Amino acid sequence: MTAAPLLIVGTGGHARECIEAARAADRQVAGLLDQDPQMWGKSVLGVPVLSGAPAEHRSDDAEWLIAVGDNEVRSRLAADLTGCAFTTLVHPFSWVSPTAVIGEGCMIFAGTVLQTGVRLGRHVIINTGATVSHDCQIGDGSHIAVGAHLAGSVKIGAHVLFGAGAVARPGAVVGDDAVVGAGAVVVADIAAGVTAIGGGVARPRGD
Ligand SMILES: CC(C)(COP(=O)(O)OP(=O)(O)OC[C@H]1O[C@@H](n2cnc3c(N)ncnc32)[C@H](O)[C@@H]1OP(=O)(O)O)[C@@H](O)C(=O)NCCC(=O)NCCS
Repeated sequence: MTAAPLLIVGTGGHARECIEAARAADRQVAGLLDQDPQMWGKSVLGVPVLSGAPAEHRSDDAEWLIAVGDNEVRSRLAADLTGCAFTTLVHPFSWVSPTAVIGEGCMIFAGTVLQTGVRLGRHVIINTGATVSHDCQIGDGSHIAVGAHLAGSVKIGAHVLFGAGAVARPGAVVGDDAVVGAGAVVVADIAAGVTAIGGGVARPRGD
């Protein structure tokens, strides 16, 4: 069976990564969509940027991917495109447990590992080299950035940016719309909407 043509929303760096991940997974990208009319008629990595706003291209026989790194923009576009068939992109150089449950529109990049019992909502990004250990839950529209690591049973809410190289200890809870800064070590729960920064310094217990 021939796969439906793939339309990617976005033309920036994240979209270029998605084009290359799609090609690595033997999916060809039929076109890119961008809200900026200045991009229309151009091409990115050989893929044409189609004229017209994304919502003008609704079509029953296309599959869609919203390749925008910004959580807020990605979630808004997803709402604008409700009813479209969103694909899930999994780079072939990742390992996803057969017991993991992955929502539509997720993007799982090279070098990632998703362990047993992991559950992802919709339009979640697991970026290059991130690892998600057993039984983690990640809400809709969140982004686990490059090289981040979630230990077992971590709960990440919706629309969370979990920054590059950040780490969460087992069972940590990060509320909706929170931001965990690059390189942070999450050792206590982070409430919804909070931005948290700060790396941990290993020291002998009691000092
Ligand atoms: C935490 C973060 C959201 C703060 O962004 P911001 O509000 O624009 O903050 P600023 O850059 O103005 O910095 C404010 C202060 O916080 C410090 N700071 C910023 N990010 C920090 C981080 N990750 N860890 C520690 N300190 C940080 C800055 O040095 C600055 O300190 P100062 O006031 O003493 O000079 C951002 O720096 C960050 O880490 N974002 C994650 C980015 C990321 O990983 N994206 C995904 C890529 S795949």
